[in-house]
Amino acid sequence: MSSYNENLRTVTTQRLMEMKQRGEKISMLTAYDYSTAIILDKAGIDVVLVGDSAGNVMAGHTTTLPVTLDQMIWYAQAVRRAVKRALVVVDLPFGSYQGNSKEAVHSAIRMMKESGADAIKIEGGLEIKESVERILSAGIPIMGHLGLTPQSINKFGSYAVRAKDEVEAKKLVEDARLLADLGCFGIVLEKIPAVLAKQVTEEISIPTISIGAGPYTDGQVLVLHDMLGINKDFSPRFLRRYANLHDEILEAIEHYIQDVKSGDFPNEKESY
Ligand code: KIV
Repeated sequence: MSSYNENLRTVTTQRLMEMKQRGEKISMLTAYDYSTAIILDKAGIDVVLVGDSAGNVMAGHTTTLPVTLDQMIWYAQAVRRAVKRALVVVDLPFGSYQGNSKEAVHSAIRMMKESGADAIKIEGGLEIKESVERILSAGIPIMGHLGLTPQSINKFGSYAVRAKDEVEAKKLVEDARLLADLGCFGIVLEKIPAVLAKQVTEEISIPTISIGAGPYTDGQVLVLHDMLGINKDFSPRFLRRYANLHDEILEAIEHYIQDVKSGDFPNEKESY
């Protein structure tokens, strides 16, 4: 188990590349607030993703589409204040970069300037080529995201596994090559067959990070609330739960309510 060590070098995009080269797996988790981001950094996580999954787990939306750039900047600022070692990557939300490349670079610059993020993440391949080029030319590191891209959920119509057929698999490989050639520093591969993720990982020089894309990628990412068992309703096959915080929190709150009602809390020692 890894733990925080002040002497550890801060994680950079270059360091992630070195990790791929020497076969060291990259660990990544989401965070949206200061207090949990402190714990992630203390544990020694490599990358903290301020994901637009905040729209689901923090705000209760059914998709990530309603999340705004201002909201993502606010979440990212809180996480940035906490994280000293890990690389902080922030999602540009739906509607902040798909319109045109000028809008995309404007959103990316706002994110970097106002939140202090280390890098941004955007979804898509060839269709966002011009925006990728423009953002990179502004000196902003980009992590790509291919496969099941939740901002396109209305196009897909479901959260089923992507790129199972030859045509979509071929496009995914081409998009991954393109993002790597353009100069992205990593790519999230979401919910695609493990063999396809393996092929992409072997073909491109930049790190691949899996969420539901099997074990052969350079790293893994999960949504924090899912892996901690805060959400009980979301149980895809790829999710491993490392805690059952929903029940623990519920029990603690029920206990508190009982103590308040019975007059047990606060006691003499807890009073002035
Ligand atoms: O928003 C998010 O949390 C993500 C992960 C699922 C990779 O993009």
